[in-house]
Amino acid sequence: AVATPVTAAGADVAAIAHRGASAYAPENTLAAVRLGAQMRADLVEIDVQQSEDGALVVVHDNTLARTTDVEQKFPDRAPWRVSDFTLDEIRTLDAGSWKAPEYAGERVPTLAEVLDELQRGPSGLLLEAKSPELYPGITERIADELRKRPEWVRPDPKARNLVVQSFNWDFVRDFHGLLPGVQVGVLGAPSEAELAEVATYSNQVNPNHAQATPEYIAAVHAHGMAINPYTVNDATLMRTLIDRGVDGIISDRPDVLREQIRQA
Ligand code: G3P
Ligand code: CA
Repeated sequence: AVATPVTAAGADVAAIAHRGASAYAPENTLAAVRLGAQMRADLVEIDVQQSEDGALVVVHDNTLARTTDVEQKFPDRAPWRVSDFTLDEIRTLDAGSWKAPEYAGERVPTLAEVLDELQRGPSGLLLEAKSPELYPGITERIADELRKRPEWVRPDPKARNLVVQSFNWDFVRDFHGLLPGVQVGVLGAPSEAELAEVATYSNQVNPNHAQATPEYIAAVHAHGMAINPYTVNDATLMRTLIDRGVDGIISDRPDVLREQIRQA
């Protein structure tokens, strides 16, 4: 699979807002997604998991404890797994106060709400399926949600920018089989020996920035794939990676990243 650039110009490095503009707004909320778009991210990254009743919800951890007030609202439901709560229950939670009082009342959004929010602006979506092995049926559910919106999945240059990624490479391969027109990425760093197999279905390899050496970037490119390291919040490191030729960078600070890309 060959990578297609996701930047507006198709030329320079893609600015990707990690969990939204999560340095400034509570991660994986509509406020963080909106701010990422306002900061002109090419893509906004979110984490998608599944509620007990099969809704696609946007949250990073496998439990709700760190980023919501679930422990106060449901004290007898430890360990507060995402998969043990219905969407209606999850919707009662405050997902913003832990970050700052001004974000009190932010909710755990659904994937549909994030798609609606991004639809209003120019930013695309980097959708991470988080721990899909915990959620039977989630591959089809994500594909079904996206199929409802042809502008996100049509395989032509007018389609909105969309990439689906996961640390679970079996998920990535299966998802590619369901919706072959959508760009996909593996998270992590496949070995030199694994890259050839990964390249049969994936467009991107998105490793931790520590793995994005000049040699590794060259190896990914030699297999026809793009490389977008995470999570880079230091301006000097952003510039180093841009100079090494990465295709995009995933950052909690998309404003700082945008400026580094402009200066490069
Ligand atoms: O998009 C890459 C990055 O989000 C992967 O790590 O733990 O922040 O989901 P994590
Ligand atoms: Ca993620």
